[in-house]
Amino acid sequence: MEKIFVCKTTQISVGQMKKISVNGKDIVVANIGGDYFAINDTCTHAGASLSEGKIEDSTIICAWHGAQFDCKNGKLIKFPAKINDLEVYNVIVEEDNILVEP
Ligand code: FES
Repeated sequence: MEKIFVCKTTQISVGQMKKISVNGKDIVVANIGGDYFAINDTCTHAGASLSEGKIEDSTIICAWHGAQFDCKNGKLIKFPAKINDLEVYNVIVEEDNILVEP
């Protein structure tokens, strides 16, 4: 599978995230305790960019209406309505390069 370079590991600190656009997909890569995870950046509620929200532990919180998703598996954690989980992508760290398989 195609690997896409995101950035150097030093460019996403613990608890931070970075949005990239690949093949028409918006993906957010998050650093959770030194491990990197990639999920779809588009909130399944109404389309907000999750990279504009915030991260608490491994939970990403949408800035628009507060939907909470697990960065590690894309699963919806908390929201008043049933909305879809997020797509997840494989992340590979080679030396100090973060790569994703979109
Ligand atoms: S758009 Fe994300 S919670 Fe509404």
